[in-house]
Order: sequence, then structure tokens, then C-alpha cells
Amino acid sequence: MIKPEDVFRRVIPQALSPPCSSQAYAPANIALSKYWGKRDITLNLPLNSSLSVSLGTWGTTTQIDPAEADTLVFNGKDLPANAPEAAKIWRFVDLFCGDARPALAINTRNSIPTAAGLASSASGFAALTRALAQTFAVTQPPEILSMLSRFGSGSATRSFWTGFARWDRGQRDDGTDSHGRALDVHYPEFQIAIVPVDTAQKSHSSRQGMTHTVSTSPLYAVWPQQAETDCDAIETALLAKDFDTLGTLAEANALAMHATMMAARPALMYLKASSWRILETLRSARRDGLRAFATMDAGPNVKLLFL
Ligand code: PMV
Repeated sequence: MIKPEDVFRRVIPQALSPPCSSQAYAPANIALSKYWGKRDITLNLPLNSSLSVSLGTWGTTTQIDPAEADTLVFNGKDLPANAPEAAKIWRFVDLFCGDARPALAINTRNSIPTAAGLASSASGFAALTRALAQTFAVTQPPEILSMLSRFGSGSATRSFWTGFARWDRGQRDDGTDSHGRALDVHYPEFQIAIVPVDTAQKSHSSRQGMTHTVSTSPLYAVWPQQAETDCDAIETALLAKDFDTLGTLAEANALAMHATMMAARPALMYLKASSWRILETLRSARRDGLRAFATMDAGPNVKLLFL
């Protein structure tokens, strides 16, 4: 069985350079074609490809400095190593650095609300991967760093570029071909707005939610194939700048993902009454000619897509 550390050691040298101070930024991203469900939990490999748009200046900045002892400051607060977010971050740092890891001071700040389905884990792990690469003078291309960031958060694979990116599910058992890549499209008219419904910490992490959906939802059987078809069709519509097809497919894909969640037993309901009211208002405005569509992630907030 391939272990995460084996994958890291294939692309990062065993003996790292001494650490130097570094700072890196990565944008958050919103999936237009969703990732939901893993084919390998240990290597964090998805069952289907996904496609996203970057949120530009909304994202995460991470500073790393050599230190006497490990410290982690998260959005201005000291986080003890056993706090759940901290444990995920240090586990990732350990994977990246291997056995002889020097002590590090990490300071990370999000410009978006954390854990509200606004993809802060995506920008967080992409910024952390970039900052670690700079700290230890690892000069791998963004696709390889994207592949590694997958071990922190799957959606991080798509946060290495501005504009549009696609995470290919890949075929290899070791997952080295499961990473993001930039899509060659310049589409500044494409806009995304977030309608905040509730920006408090969400009740189920996407990791728990996915596992629960895959193992208990009878509707999940149709998801991987449909999601792969949607991802290809959304990419085609995007490259053709066919906004109505793109928006229609993105909204249908998001609702299909929520349908698999709601059919899980017990049900996973990330959308709240006000999310549904926003969707109803949008559908009625569309009947009056508005060209706007919605997408929703593992949280109640609604994102609007328009030109
Ligand atoms: O990789 P995670 O744990 O951030 O999961 C992302 C899940 C969704 O946001 C619901 C979909 C997606 O593709 O971003």
C-alpha cells in the first residue's frame, strides 16, 4: 500500500535545505463542477474531476519563519498543536518535511470567513504548500505542489492559479496524476458574488460529509459518472464562453451534489431555509429574464454566477 509520506519523498528531497523566512498567498476557489467523494481516503484521491473559478484577492497569506519551537498563529490567535485545525496543519508540515523537521513559526491569515463553505481550507493548504516550498527552496512546478496540497485538502489542488482551474481525478494508484491545472481561458466578464447566509463554523466538515454520503446515500451511485460528464461539459461551455450553458450546468451539478447529501442516512443538510429562499428568488428573477445562476458548497451560503 502506498503511504502519503512515500508520495512526498518522491518529489521532495530527503535532505531539505535549512529553512529561510517566506511568505506565500493563494486565492480561494469556488467549484463550478463539484468534488464530492473519495476513491482513496489515505491518498485523498477523488472519485471525479472538478473545475473551479478563483476568488482572486480573497484567500490566505501564510508566513513561515525558522524558530526555536513550533508555533502556529491562525487568524491572529495562537493555536495549540492539539486544536483540530492545528493538528491538520502540522501533520501536513510533517509530511512535507519528513523525519528531520526543524521547528517553525507559522502565521496564517484568511481574508474570508473560515469554515463556512467559503473554501478557506483550499486557499489555506495551497498557501501553506507554497510557503513550505519557498522555505525549503523546493522548486517544483505548481502542478506538483497542487498534487501535494491534496493531502491537506482536495479543493486546494485548484487554488494555485487565478482564473479557472481543473482538478483531474487521475488514473494512477499513487495519485501522482491527480492534481490541478490552469485552464487557458480569459473571461473577465464572468463574475461571482457570495450571498452570506451564515458564516459561522459549519457543523460537519466536508471530509466527514463526503465519507458519510459515499457510505450511506443510495443516490451516490449515480454521482461519480454524472459529475465527470458535468465537468467535461462545463469545461467545454467555459472555453466557448457559452455562459447560459455553463451556468445551467453548474447549478444542476451543485443541486445534484446536495441531493446526494440529503439522501444520506441520516441526512446531511448544509442548506438552510434562507439558502432555499435565495434560490427561489433567483429562479423567479430568471423567469423574468435575469441571466444568473447559483452554486452552493458544504455550507449554507449561496454563490451567484453572472456576467
Ligand atoms: O477538499 P475539501 O475538503 O475542501 O472539499 C470541498 C468540497 C466542496 O467544496 C463541497 C466541493 C468542491 O469541489 O470544492
